[in-house]
Amino acid sequence: MLNEIKINLQNIQQFVSKSELEALKPAAIDALNKLHDKSGKGNDFLGWVNLPESISDADLQDIEQTAYHLSSISEVVVVIGIGGSYLGSKAVIDALSNSFDSLLNNRKNPLVVFAGHQLSEDYLHDLLEMMKGRSVSCIIISKSGTTTEPAVAFRIVKNYIEEVYGKADAKKRIVAITDQSKGALKQMSTKEGYKTFVIPDDVGGRFSVLTPVGLLPIAVAGFDIRKLVKGAVDMGKDLMPNVPYEGNICMQYAVARNALYRKGKKVEIMVNYNPKLHFLTEWWKQLYGESEGKEGKGIFPAGVDFTTDLHSMGQYIQDGERMLFETVISVKNANSKLTIPSDEENLDQLNFMAGKRIGEVNKMAELGTMLAHVDGGVPNIHIEFPEINEYYLGALIYFFEKACGVSGYILDVNPFDQPGVEAYKKNMFALLGKPGYEQQGADLKKRL
Ligand code: PA5
Repeated sequence: MLNEIKINLQNIQQFVSKSELEALKPAAIDALNKLHDKSGKGNDFLGWVNLPESISDADLQDIEQTAYHLSSISEVVVVIGIGGSYLGSKAVIDALSNSFDSLLNNRKNPLVVFAGHQLSEDYLHDLLEMMKGRSVSCIIISKSGTTTEPAVAFRIVKNYIEEVYGKADAKKRIVAITDQSKGALKQMSTKEGYKTFVIPDDVGGRFSVLTPVGLLPIAVAGFDIRKLVKGAVDMGKDLMPNVPYEGNICMQYAVARNALYRKGKKVEIMVNYNPKLHFLTEWWKQLYGESEGKEGKGIFPAGVDFTTDLHSMGQYIQDGERMLFETVISVKNANSKLTIPSDEENLDQLNFMAGKRIGEVNKMAELGTMLAHVDGGVPNIHIEFPEINEYYLGALIYFFEKACGVSGYILDVNPFDQPGVEAYKKNMFALLGKPGYEQQGADLKKRL
């Protein structure tokens, strides 16, 4: 892995001095040590640190066999979950799939669709319509087993599957991924006899993509989870505390973003130049937003897809309020080759590009944009990886997780809790009339 994923900090240099970066180095080293010796905040949620290498062959086989079983009986597999229980698998599946996946004929693997990540009545209605006449299975994922969005979606999908296949056969089409012992989903799975996978107690939702939470849906979609895990394992070796700062990219990234934050750059925009990476950004937004945004602190993680958003958010980034920095996730090589054709008339005057690969044009857009934004006052962190495949996605996932832990400790928050998520839930339950919330419900209604 060494040096295959590169971080370039050249374009933050005019915004933060060498000494400002140096000053944060000891905090990064301390933070990385704390992740390993488990002496920092939230240390009961550090199971993800050594997770990749602890996944056994038997674990992978169990996941692969279950994926094979679901694939063999389904055209569509509905993955139900929200937050960390869906974003990781969605990110990997989107990155690796054909851009027009849902329209492909002669599929080898079922179409994986997601539900339970919002409460839209129309979405669930459309899901039911889509399932009609197709063979369907479902993976329900909830660590707590009590989250409203997936629980609501699961009621709908479970009822549908039981109606179509009968209760006995429905069991073969439903897999639950949840806590070892707690929560309604665990209870229900035991009662109904669903095949169940466990989310370890010490792995929080947004750090769970390398558990069955992410691995089962990714395997169902037909991708190689062994390569994904191997990428994470190899990256892990490069991010150990004994790897010096100069070669340890998780510390470098964490230091760079914290140094920029201290200079008033409060918003980090993750940039990609390939729409397949859109959900990698969504996953990263959750990872960093939920881990760092607390106690009145934290970088606000945002995302753009370029060059698409250069024609919308590009204006703000170039010329708007200067509280931004960008982190570009740059793919060195495209997976397919396509060149720009020559045109006899040349009315669009693009013949000077004829014969060039589209990827080269995209690369020049990337480099040109980077310089323009730096000139406009937007620091640029550049992270490059060789190509989009399982191995490098596994490596990137682990890199961002590790850097997130280090960064959260530098910020001096507990990166592994999410107390702020509860506020909306309480209000929602109160407004819906949940028993025990009567007074709160009455108070809230007065304000509406
Ligand atoms: O990172 C987290 O812990 C959260 O985003 C959870 O993943 C999300 O709230 C879903 O929770 P659960 O899996 O318990 O349904």
